[in-house]
Amino acid sequence: MNQISVIGAGLMGSQIALCAAFAGFKVHLYDVDEQRLQTSQQQLAKQMEKYIKKGLFSKTQFDQANDNLILETSLSKAIEQADLVIEAIVEDLTLKRNLFQQLDEFAPPHAILATNSSMIVSSMLASSTTRPDKVCNLHFFNPVFLMSVVEVVKGAHTSNETAQAAVDFVKRIHKTPLLLQKEITGFIANRILTKVMEEAMFLLEEGIATVEEIDLACTKALNHPIGPFALMDLTGLDTAYAIQKTQFELENDAKEPSPLLKEKLAHGQLGRKTGQGFYTYQ
Ligand SMILES: NC(=O)c1ccc[n+]([C@@H]2O[C@H](COP(=O)([O-])OP(=O)(O)OC[C@H]3O[C@@H](n4cnc5c(N)ncnc54)[C@H](O)[C@@H]3O)[C@@H](O)[C@H]2O)c1
Repeated sequence: MNQISVIGAGLMGSQIALCAAFAGFKVHLYDVDEQRLQTSQQQLAKQMEKYIKKGLFSKTQFDQANDNLILETSLSKAIEQADLVIEAIVEDLTLKRNLFQQLDEFAPPHAILATNSSMIVSSMLASSTTRPDKVCNLHFFNPVFLMSVVEVVKGAHTSNETAQAAVDFVKRIHKTPLLLQKEITGFIANRILTKVMEEAMFLLEEGIATVEEIDLACTKALNHPIGPFALMDLTGLDTAYAIQKTQFELENDAKEPSPLLKEKLAHGQLGRKTGQGFYTYQ
């Protein structure tokens, strides 16, 4: 495996692409929105500056990784030589299914098609391709450079070779693969996380505690590194809403996203990326 293509240059796609580029892969990064493709570079540079200051990477390593990263404005060009395509577009089943059909059309026959979706199992996307055996979930966590685990989900349609190649790729980018042998919506971490978030939202809506108090309970009483509201701000409230809505649509016992979350979206409060979410950012 030499050539990686990442589709979607948002919060996750841009970090996944750079992370693979750091490990020496040639990476093609594509986004349907050209402006987004450009701004992703500025955001990555800003993030890297912090990591370099903290001593996590050197400037030389960052420059070398950047040389491995190619921005693409044509989907077919972005994936024509790919060995592995990682999809990281918005959490929307219809859009992802349409995209997988195109990936199947333009990527070489041997290429593995993986999704970074937070909730959607890959069988729902594999059926829009002619290579279901080469489709799987490859689920990264944010911030990609700091989170060491990647969930690899093997559906009944995924071949053993594909699952093994995905696991090997995760190891090559210096992360720990967590291989699930069976599909389940939301996999492991997000199934647990959505329950925490549901309860946090309930406590807030019932007026039992404030955003700060609930986050404090999680960080100081449960020893979570970050509280659920701060985490939603980091994820992006639009993405957090899309993830919860997808789970509600796919699972019988899942809850609808909270009206409070909808209200924040209506006011353009998307978390860190807009400077205002549950907290205010400079
Ligand atoms: N935000 C997180 O913390 C997080 C963590 C793990 C997984 N995920 C998953 O990763 C995926 C992306 O999330 P994100 O937070 O990066 O979202 P984002 O909104 O930051 O980025 C999505 C990008 O996809 C692009 N896009 C939309 N349709 C496209 C298409 N047809 N072709 C190419 N590009 C297209 C958009 O222009 C945007 O740049 C989602 O499936 C989400 O569930 C998110």
